[in-house]
Amino acid sequence: MSLKILTEHCSTPGIETLEVYRKKGGYTAVEKALKKMTPDEVVEEVKKSGVRGRGGAGFPMGMKWSFLAKPEGVPRYLVCNADESEPGTFKDHYLMKTIPHLLVEGMIISSYALGANKSFIYVRGELMYVIRILEKAIEEAKAAGFLGKNILGSGYDLELVVQPGGGAYICGEETALLESLEGKRGNPRNKPPFPAVKGLYQSPTVVNNVESIATVSWIVNNGGEAYAAVGVGKSTGTKLISASGHINKPGVYEIELGLSCDEFLNSDEYCGGVRTGHRLKAVVAGGSSVPIVPGSLFLKNANGEDRLMSYESLSDGGFATGTMLGSGGFIVFDETACIVRNTWNFSRFYEHESCGQCSPCREGTGWMQKVLNRIEHGKGSMSDIDLLVDVSKKIEGNTICPLGDAAAWPVASAIRHFRDEFEWHIKHPLEATKPGAVYAGA
Ligand code: NAI
Ligand code: SF4
Repeated sequence: MSLKILTEHCSTPGIETLEVYRKKGGYTAVEKALKKMTPDEVVEEVKKSGVRGRGGAGFPMGMKWSFLAKPEGVPRYLVCNADESEPGTFKDHYLMKTIPHLLVEGMIISSYALGANKSFIYVRGELMYVIRILEKAIEEAKAAGFLGKNILGSGYDLELVVQPGGGAYICGEETALLESLEGKRGNPRNKPPFPAVKGLYQSPTVVNNVESIATVSWIVNNGGEAYAAVGVGKSTGTKLISASGHINKPGVYEIELGLSCDEFLNSDEYCGGVRTGHRLKAVVAGGSSVPIVPGSLFLKNANGEDRLMSYESLSDGGFATGTMLGSGGFIVFDETACIVRNTWNFSRFYEHESCGQCSPCREGTGWMQKVLNRIEHGKGSMSDIDLLVDVSKKIEGNTICPLGDAAAWPVASAIRHFRDEFEWHIKHPLEATKPGAVYAGA
């Protein structure tokens, strides 16, 4: 059984309450941090841990914290990005509804480390019941003296606010989130300046994902080095994976980074294999924004070596043969899945969610969706395949925020690895509309 840093107590009845959470050792990390450590010492432990941002980008969390500007007399903010909307990703949702105090405790310690006196948890608007769970946890923590003025007699004050989002995917992009939090339309900002310099209300701000912040209590209790000892290379610690699609055991799993992809997919401790009676066809390892790869390339890299569930191993080979760990939104497709239909589906999503600020994304996502729609519905021509590749290249790297790349990569990778399936659709227009048909590329 592997180490469970975040989910060890998730199946304990009543763990959403302060009483049970404290019986399991909850809030000891707040006491340790606020009574025995300086803010800089907390930052130092997070740096030593090597933990990387769990929202998808994998940026080192301690480094992000140390970039925070500290001009005299200007407030600093911590904002938790709980706007989880990446298709295939539902691990933050699970954590917040199951063990909300883990996030609240992490927010208190992280805010203390960063010198923030007012912090926000920006939650995806569709999750109203989770917002209520978090608000209740915050009330309990406040009543117990873990929030508010002079926490535990330390002289440190913190107000924690839960803010519902409006249900737009783009508000998960950190600068769009900040715009939305300020009450404006959620349009991403140009970076730099990064939020660490000019964030919420133009003040220095750290934006961290739910899972990243929830990890901080364990790091404070056990030390950064203990965290760094788990995992492989620069992929330290554990990671939550939301597993869905054609597998026997969909769900949220906490893995030690460095676990073999084969074990994650096939062992009973995790996904339990491709659904019984079917064959592995393709995998999206880190949410819909990362490249889709054939199952064989998920299990082994281009050199035939076993792939590991880590930032480096999954992307080994770059976009030619690799994918990405991303947000850990793991989606499995068996031989009954239609790659063209799936790619069209992803494209419809990105077209709908584009904020429309930059033309390559606004126009390109619409073009890709329309071309995929006609291929899927038996009206495509062979030149459409190269047209899609061309449009995806014109979007990639030419937009304000990563949504453009996120829309381009699934299309480009699907054509790279499953071109024969696109051609098959075009050559067999009538059958092409059959959902669930088995294609030559399977
Ligand atoms: P990014 O790589 O641009 O930035 C990562 C973080 O590091 C940001 O907080 C950024 O402000 C900070 N940073 C980078 N360079 C910095 C510097 N020089 N100074 C100060 N701070 C710096 O990636 P981004 O836009 O934050 O995230 C993109 C990822 O988000 C995608 O790869 C995708 O996997 C993921 N994603 C996750 C979703 C979810 O629901 N969990 C939804 C959509 C995308
Ligand atoms: Fe908006 Fe798309 Fe440009 Fe991002 S890439 S700012 S979503 S138009």
